[in-house]
Amino acid sequence: MPLLMRAGATGGTALLLAGCAVEEAPSMLQPSGFAARVVEDLWWLMFWLGAAVFVLVTALLVIGPLRGRRKPVGDGAPEPSRGPAWIVLGGVVLPLLVLPVVYGATILTLAQTSDFAGEDDLQVEVTANTWWWDVRYPASGFTTANEIVIPVDRPVQMVLKSNDVIHSFWVPQLAGKIDNIPGRTNTLSLQADEPGVYRGQCAEYCGTQHSRMQFFVRAVPEAEFEQWLLAQRRPADVPDTREETAGALVFNRAGCAACHTVSGTAADGQIGPDLTHLMSRETIGAGTLPNTKGYLGGWVLDPQQSKPGAKMPPTPLDPQELEALLAYLTSLE
Ligand code: CUA
Repeated sequence: MPLLMRAGATGGTALLLAGCAVEEAPSMLQPSGFAARVVEDLWWLMFWLGAAVFVLVTALLVIGPLRGRRKPVGDGAPEPSRGPAWIVLGGVVLPLLVLPVVYGATILTLAQTSDFAGEDDLQVEVTANTWWWDVRYPASGFTTANEIVIPVDRPVQMVLKSNDVIHSFWVPQLAGKIDNIPGRTNTLSLQADEPGVYRGQCAEYCGTQHSRMQFFVRAVPEAEFEQWLLAQRRPADVPDTREETAGALVFNRAGCAACHTVSGTAADGQIGPDLTHLMSRETIGAGTLPNTKGYLGGWVLDPQQSKPGAKMPPTPLDPQELEALLAYLTSLE
């Protein structure tokens, strides 16, 4: 009995934990936008059709042997086989009923969700890199990384590219997914119905840090979006303390500027994320670490600790240099 109770308790805990995980996961079964809702409908149609076929086949599997056993055996005359009839029913008739429904619904879903946003709507250019996302707002002329801010209730067109291998752009709660393919431009329309932060994830295996290639879509009210645009368009803040000024020098001397851009300064590297408004972002390394001064320090000294294989090399700095550099980086708001 104690064993049973323990098993029950363990099972219950597992269920509770599973419940928590579902709550936090960016599930396509919790859609928050038009396209995602249509995809969810298609998912449920496929689920219930699949469940019906599963129940039917399982029932036949159980009924078959039971009926066979009741038949009298050995009276000489061979029973006429009903095998061919079942093969036609299960292999031809049933698929002919089910597959066209799924096919039709899929085509309809594609037509409804493809390009409901166009060039006249807000466009965001998202270029995939191993393993982070470059985010450009062409109409406003600025670049950020790994965080996409959009106005709520407005269709947005994502213009998707890749700088190296095939990646895939997926925000399960807002839309279906589509690949970022080198040498090609794909578009994806999405719209958020409610303000909030929606987690996105690279959905095509692209190397060792594929799982740490996350991004976030923050949907905000129109006025807040306009404010955000204005703030992002500004060039970087000029260092205004002695330590920040020293940090800006370290930034150039240590080689950061070769890979990163800080607009309004000489730093115009194109290999890594744009750092002009670094502190407006929540995470470092495409969702790998929280963007705080402490984590930033660890990341600068050795990014390979938390994201092995990332292109950013370790930067050996003495404590004063690091302090100054962090003062400068955290002033980039
Ligand atoms: Cu990029 Cu997986």
